Amino acid sequence: MALLEIENLNFRYLDSEREVIQDFSLSMEHGEVLVLAGPSGCGKSTLLRAINGLIPHMYQGEYKGRVVVDGMEVAKSEMRALAQKVGFLFQNPENQIFMFSVERDIAFGLENLGIPRQEIRERVDNAMRLLGITNLAKRAPHELSDGQKQRVALAGVLAMDPKLVILDEPTSLLDPLTARELVYAIGKINKEKGTSFIIVEHRLDLVVTVADRLAVMYEGKKIFDDRPEKVLLECDVEPYGVLVPAVTKLQRQLSRQGIPLPRRLLAPEELPVELGV
Ligand SMILES: Nc1ncnc2c1ncn2[C@@H]1O[C@H](COP(=O)(O)OP(=O)(O)O)[C@@H](O)[C@H]1O
Ligand SMILES: [Mg+2]
Repeated sequence: MALLEIENLNFRYLDSEREVIQDFSLSMEHGEVLVLAGPSGCGKSTLLRAINGLIPHMYQGEYKGRVVVDGMEVAKSEMRALAQKVGFLFQNPENQIFMFSVERDIAFGLENLGIPRQEIRERVDNAMRLLGITNLAKRAPHELSDGQKQRVALAGVLAMDPKLVILDEPTSLLDPLTARELVYAIGKINKEKGTSFIIVEHRLDLVVTVADRLAVMYEGKKIFDDRPEKVLLECDVEPYGVLVPAVTKLQRQLSRQGIPLPRRLLAPEELPVELGV
């Protein structure tokens, strides 16, 4: 069974004139990492809400089609049940951090579920280890840097052991190095725990290294959906507002000029090696 099935989804908010999501279908297997790209306003956050259940449970509108997460139909399931399948990381971690210490904060969701103490301890320790924040356990979240807060918030999501974690522009508040660390942590969690991720991100150079898939959305529709190297090297994505990483642009130009390069995305430092210079 697929982890996620979106079948012909259409959604219009009560006060929007047009459908914000139009005939959108997407299927995702367990363990996949999917990056969702597209210009501002094309409906990415709306699509994420339709996966975590905020749509149709919190936002009203005209809803057609079906979204199924791990066998559970979103529109027919309770938010509480969905929350155990889908974790959601807000853009701004301030919205997700409440407690006086990092470890209490990560444990918060688990305590609400009435999980036994010992198991909470294990899950919190494991989440802190995966994100490299064990040394912050006793610290107060509000004293931490943005990057650290983001990792604490993600640890809180992971401790709930969701099958799918959704991140909506997670690096927008982070400097490039901290953003890279977050993406590295996502790759590690995916490999170690098999957790699937959907990441909305403009800075594709940061995230394509961990992605199995890249979907491009435009005006509520899905335009491309394939392996990242296929989409970025072979598809004409620029008209859809996708920022192609500089190294990929160069790689594409060189390929078009007949210079043989591997059909995968190269890291910046690989280009001169491949060219033999
Ligand atoms: N709560 C809302 N009510 C009405 N319209 C909304 C709401 N949220 C978003 N929209 C509209 O839906 C469209 C898609 O928005 P959004 O999903 O936030 O796009 P993105 O995340 O790709 O920037 C935009 O035109 C936006 O103005
Ligand atoms: Mg958005």
